[in-house]
Amino acid sequence: MTALGKLFRTTAFKLSFAYLVIFTIFAFVALAYVAWNAQRVLDDQFVSTIQAEISGLSEQYRVGGLRRLVNVVDRRSRTPGASLYLVTTEAGERVAGNIGALPPGVIDQPGQFETDYARTDETNATPGHAIVRVYLLPGGFRLVVGRDVEERARLRDAIQRAFGYSLILITVLGCAGGWFITKRVLKRVDDMTETTRVIMAGDLDGRLRIEGTGDELDRLAQNLNAMLDRIGELMKGIQEVSDNIAHDLKTPLTRLRNKADEALRTAKTPDELRAALDANIEESDNLIRIFNALLIIARLEAGNAREALSDFDASGVVADVAELYEALAEEAHTPLEVSIEEGLTVHGNRELLGQAVANLLDNALKYGAGANASIKVTASRQTDRVVIVVADRGPGIPEAERDRVLERFVRLENSRSSPGFGLGLSLVSAVARLHGGGLKLEDNAPGLRAVLTLPLKEHATS
Ligand SMILES: Nc1ncnc2c1ncn2[C@@H]1O[C@H](COP(=O)(O)OP(=O)(O)OP(=O)(O)O)[C@@H](O)[C@H]1O
Ligand SMILES: [Mg+2]
Repeated sequence: MTALGKLFRTTAFKLSFAYLVIFTIFAFVALAYVAWNAQRVLDDQFVSTIQAEISGLSEQYRVGGLRRLVNVVDRRSRTPGASLYLVTTEAGERVAGNIGALPPGVIDQPGQFETDYARTDETNATPGHAIVRVYLLPGGFRLVVGRDVEERARLRDAIQRAFGYSLILITVLGCAGGWFITKRVLKRVDDMTETTRVIMAGDLDGRLRIEGTGDELDRLAQNLNAMLDRIGELMKGIQEVSDNIAHDLKTPLTRLRNKADEALRTAKTPDELRAALDANIEESDNLIRIFNALLIIARLEAGNAREALSDFDASGVVADVAELYEALAEEAHTPLEVSIEEGLTVHGNRELLGQAVANLLDNALKYGAGANASIKVTASRQTDRVVIVVADRGPGIPEAERDRVLERFVRLENSRSSPGFGLGLSLVSAVARLHGGGLKLEDNAPGLRAVLTLPLKEHATS
């Protein structure tokens, strides 16, 4: 496409052109209105002047007869100006005045006409154009008073010229403005196209230039940059997810493989083989559980779960989970005390929060068991936050380990005897982060106090 063709196709050019047309139409309408109005005012003025002169002259005639009228008309005819006079007999013969000739028939009828005429005092008399009024004087004479309308024609010419000039000016300014804008906008769009081409070619760190003008192109560039940042984060997240899952599943898979291998080598009887297969199935089930937990954590960490967020009643979720664990607590002879404030609404994912609270309760039951075991679950509002606390009276976690146990697959030495993968707390803290909150492990002296804080949804109680 040629540069000119490209220019014609741009939005900026089309817009400038549309504005040009609109301005031209507007200027035309405005000037036409002015012209029409000016002409109307002039005509009105002509007519009233003529009317006044006719009354004056007819009064002169009434008072002083034809002689006086002729005198006055002659005098007035000699003063230069646009006024025209004619006094004729009934037959149409000129008696006085500066109108030399009128087209035949004009003076036959009284009334007002626009007509051509010739002056007596102009030798090369080019016919003029005038508004005349014919008046019948008593006694059969005719009095014609008129005004040349050349002035009107001059006005029209002036307005037409003004229109022509403004049209030229509008066109020139419009074209120049359009060209300037088009060039500027085109240049920036071209820059953007070039940058996106580079980014598409693989340079994912490339970003569009922001001029700092705050115009729509800047906003577009900002949004595209934000989008690229987000895509970058997601890509990184996905990469981390796959890396982590591959890494984390390597150990249990190797264990599974080794167990099968060992069974093949050592098992003699079908019963022994069956037992080995059962063990493998159990191990595979664990693997699936780990896999699911890992997947959830990884997704949360990559920020992929944001689309499934909604407002829900956190009080209800905590109460439901606590109720589920009541039977298990009873079985373990552990008193479970539950105290939940009503109407705590949170924006987030109901199932994930349920899973997080279940993980905390599961830990409290698993590791908090003992002679004085007791578990306390509370959910309450603290200014703009929901605070969910699960506290037990077990051995607790030493302060130095409290950060580490939040990592995946970390289990403390003395818990190795109880089942688990070391993923529970990782998931809780990932869920907390998804909701914009956090998980804190504190000393319950004795025992562990797990504090899960989530932002309260604004005006949740209203
Ligand atoms: N309430 C608690 N009291 C004492 N130690 C705890 C408590 N909760 C967690 N821990 C310690 O933190 C470790 C990590 O806990 P986490 O819930 O992440 O994994 P897990 O319970 O071992 O396994 P999973 O939850 O995946 O079944 C536990 O192995 C345990 O050593
Ligand atoms: Mg656990």
